[in-house]
This record gives sequence, C-alpha cells and structure tokens, in this order.
Amino acid sequence: MLDQGAPPHNTGRAPSAASGPVARLMRRKPVERLVAEGGQGEGGTLRRSLGLWQLTMISIGATLGTGIFVVLGEAVPKAGPAVTLSFVIAGLTALFSALSYAELAGTIPVSGSSYSYAYATMGELIAWVCGWCLVLEYGVSVAAVAVGWGEYLNEFLDGTIGVTLPDALSAPPGDGGIFNLPALVVVLLAMVFLLGGAKESARANTAMVCVKIAALVLFCAIGFTGFKSGNYAHFMPLGMSGVSAAGATLFFSYIGFDAASTAGEEARDAQRDLPRAIMLSLVIVTALYVLVAAVAVGARPWRTFNDSEATLARIMADVTGQSFWGTLLAACAVVAIASVVLTVLYGQTRILFAMSRDGLVPKVFAKVHPRSGTPRANTVIVSLFCGVLAAAIPLGQLADATSIGTLFAFALVNVAVVVLRRTRPHMDRTFRVPLSPVLPALGFLFCVWMMGSLSAVTWVVFGGWMAAGLVFYFVYGYRRSRLASGVDLAATAEK
Ligand code: ALA
Repeated sequence: MLDQGAPPHNTGRAPSAASGPVARLMRRKPVERLVAEGGQGEGGTLRRSLGLWQLTMISIGATLGTGIFVVLGEAVPKAGPAVTLSFVIAGLTALFSALSYAELAGTIPVSGSSYSYAYATMGELIAWVCGWCLVLEYGVSVAAVAVGWGEYLNEFLDGTIGVTLPDALSAPPGDGGIFNLPALVVVLLAMVFLLGGAKESARANTAMVCVKIAALVLFCAIGFTGFKSGNYAHFMPLGMSGVSAAGATLFFSYIGFDAASTAGEEARDAQRDLPRAIMLSLVIVTALYVLVAAVAVGARPWRTFNDSEATLARIMADVTGQSFWGTLLAACAVVAIASVVLTVLYGQTRILFAMSRDGLVPKVFAKVHPRSGTPRANTVIVSLFCGVLAAAIPLGQLADATSIGTLFAFALVNVAVVVLRRTRPHMDRTFRVPLSPVLPALGFLFCVWMMGSLSAVTWVVFGGWMAAGLVFYFVYGYRRSRLASGVDLAATAEK
C-alpha cells in the first residue's frame, strides 16, 4: 500500500502542524491513516462480511429504482423519444466519474466514499463540502426514492384490492397531500433491516435486486410487442437543450453506483472488490436503462407521458390490455424501490460514520453496537430524518436537489483522482483510470454541464444548503476535527 515517498504512519500532527486559519482548512488526512482507522468506531469495530457479489448488488440496489420506474415519466416530456440519448449522456457523466471512483475506492478503501478521497487529497474544508453534498446524494435521495415508492404502492393496491390511499396520506404538502405515509413506512422498514446487521441487509438487498432486474427485463419483453416505429417519427422535438435538460433530470437514475464505496470498511477484500463492483454495476444498469427507455417511448407516444404516475406499470397494462401485467410490474417496483431505500440509507449512515470518526459531526454517528457490529444510533437518527423529509417534500424538488449535490461530489472525485496521481504517484492502485488526466477532466466537465442544465430554483436550494453546511463546519467541525487535535484512532487502537 505504501509507496516509497509515503510519509511514515503519523499521529495526525504533521498535517495539522501548519499554522494559520487557511492552512488549517487545507489540512489533509494521510491515506495510510485513513486506511489504518478503517472499521474503527466509538466502542467497537464494523464487521467485514461483504464479498464482490454483495458489493455489486449494493451498488445496483442503490441505483435501479425511482429513476427508471418514475423519473423517466418526468423526463420524456422534456426530450421526446430522444430521452434514450439523454440516458446515454447521463450515463457518460456517470461512467467518467465511475472510473475515478473505482480508482480511489481501490486505493483508499474506507467507508466515507468521496468525502474520504477529498480529505486525503484536497484538505478538510473541501472534504467537508463533499461530505455535505453526499448528504444530498444519499440522505435526500432516500427521501426522493421513498416518495416514488408510494406511487407504485398505490398502483399495486389499486390493481389488487381496488383501493388506493387518499392523496392526503400518500402525497406530500405541495403535491396535493398532507403527509406521505408510505414514504415514511418504507424508510422505517429499511431501518429495521439495517439494525439487524450489514450482512443480513445485504442478503435482503440481493433478493430484491434480482426481482427488479427480472421486472425490467419482463417490461422490455412485453413492451416490445407494443413497439410502433411511428412513435420515433420526431426524435428530438425539443432540440438538444431538451435532451440535456432531460439528461440532468435522469442523472438521478444513475445515482447510487458509488454505493459500494461506502462499504469499504465492511468488505472482505475492499481493494480488489470495490473497483470491480462499481464498474460492473454501472455497466448493468446503463444497459437496462437504455433498453427500457427505448421500449417505453416506442410503446407510447411521448406527448402522453405528461403527469403520468407509475409510468412503466401503465405502459404494461396498455400494451397487454390486461391490468394484471401492470399490477405485477407495480408489485416488482415496490420491491425494487425498497431496495434503493435500504442501500442508500446504508450508504448515508456509513458516510456519517466516517465523518464522525474524524470529529466533523457528533460522536454518536460513530458509535458501534457491540452485538450487531453496526452503527445503530446513527441508523435510527438518519432514518428518522429521511423519513420525515420523505413525508413532507414533493419528489421533483428532492430529486433535483439530490442530482446537483451528487454532481458536485462527482466533480470533486474527478479532481481528487488527478491530485492523488500527482501527490502519490507510486501507490498501489488496483484499478487505474485509463488516459488520466483526460478522462477525469471529461468527467469533471460533464458534471459541470449537467449542473448547468438544472433549474435556477435547484441552484438556489443548493446555495442555501451549502451555506448551512459551511456554518455548521465553522461552528462545530473546525474546532473538533480530530486531525487538528492530533487524536489518532489507529494509533490508540494499536496500544
Ligand atoms: N438512482 C436511484 C433511483 O433511481 C436514486 O432510485
């Protein structure tokens, strides 16, 4: 792991020895220290139980969900049949960043994902900004995904017992409801699994991922029978700007491929398996997305996608003329989206775990329960936060806020990979981004382009979010940072 020019394992005093407020903000955490602290929390350590298969399933589990089952329906009116192209553009953005994630996850195999990569390369302030964006990527997306779950639950209940939950109880304020109860319920269910342990949650997730892949393959097979080439007559009715706007919206559907990188401290062979899991999951979901989108717009005129809920289930029912198929797809979507909630919630808890261990958020997030080997208090707090958010805010706003935060974090990862190549050129890398720095630079530019395609409202929300994060950092993390105070968990544990 160590390269020849690596600094000796240190107590954390060296990087923080630099004096002055600006130097303090730039203090970097040595890679060796990040890795040595892996798994250690307050009062216990995380259990290493996950192999390549489970890690890949975690990434697919976190990725395939509301984006394809629900957000597709919102993106088609923006791009028309060219929504397939929007998927490719969003997929390319994800691919360049996935390459950078894969290299860093293999080099710094810890739980903090891009937060930890930024800490090792660009210093504490940027790491904090990145971690704060990850709360949008993970915490807020759990809420967005949970809202999508409610739509399919209603479709399923309608198809089986002919009853749907009233809008007041199944939609958030601003979307015609008072409180989104299903969204809260699915988050609490995921919490129960997570409290049981990482291995148990991974097992449940694997079963759910198999169901969702089968459902999308079934959709393609049946939807294809209703394919009409006339639906492609005007491929790009709203021009390239429509395609890129839809791409920015659909970027949401790729969020989560990096989830394996939050499991670095529970993976059996993290350096080998994390890069593979990230790349494998991205290839599988991209293939499924492009196929599903092509079939969906082939089976239904793009103009009729306006305001449709549970889009894929309705297409199935229309194509077959039988409500049974729509109900079956809705049932699979209920399972599919639940697995996103489970894995993304998992990711959020592990990122906060890493940030807490560094002293940047309260200690309670790093407490490990001795019996389950999981951060239980952290899991309960995060679940309640996400559940209430899901119950109270409409999906569209949540999804766009998630996308902008994620794109920002991905942009930083593309920078981090180049910085680490320069500062630590001889480290062992189990995966290397080809053509670096060209591909990371492209990844960075794609992220910036996608961010630029999001609405002004989303930028205002993002600005407010970042301002709140900076206030929190300067009031709390700046003073309590373990790197600044010289506390080294790894050295303490070795004694
Ligand atoms: N990519 C995840 C989904 O589409 C967030 O549900």
